[in-house]
Amino acid sequence: MKIELIDFDLKGDERGSLIAIEANKNIPFDIKRVYYIFATKLNVVRGKHAHKKLKQVAVTVHGSCKILLDDGQEQKEITLNSPNLGLVIREMIWREMYDFSEDCVLLVLASEGYDENDYIRVHEEFMELVEK
Ligand code: TYD
Repeated sequence: MKIELIDFDLKGDERGSLIAIEANKNIPFDIKRVYYIFATKLNVVRGKHAHKKLKQVAVTVHGSCKILLDDGQEQKEITLNSPNLGLVIREMIWREMYDFSEDCVLLVLASEGYDENDYIRVHEEFMELVEK
C-alpha cells in the first residue's frame, strides 16, 4: 500500500505561519464536508471503519495522533504530528485513529457529505468486499 502524504506549502513570514487548503489544488477532490476531532480522551480508538466511496484528507493541525490504514492486504501505521502534512485516505481503506495527544486537533476534509450508508463498520464485511 502506497501512503499518500501531501506536503502543504508553508507560507511563513516574521508574523508566523499560514497554510492554505484548496479543493482540487492541494487536495485531490472537491471538499464537501469538514470536521475536526479534538479533546479526545486517553486510550480512545476512533474510526474502525472504511468507506465505500468517500475520500478524505486528515491533518493534525495541532498535536499528534497515529493512524492505522488497512487495504485488506497490508496494514501501515502513520504518525501525524505536523500541520504541514495531509494524509490521503482513499475509499475502501479501513482506518483506526489512536494515541491522540491531549492537545490534538485532527482536521478531516471529506469528498462527500455525511452518509451512514457509505460506512463499512464490520472488518469481516470490509475483507469480503475487498476480496471481491
Ligand atoms: P464517528 O463516525 O463515530 O467518528 P469517528 O470516525 O471518529 O469514529 O462519529 C461520531 C458521531 O458524529 C456520530 O454520531 C456520527 C456523527 N457525525 C456526523 O454527524 N457528521 C460527520 O461528518 C461525522 C464524521 C460524524
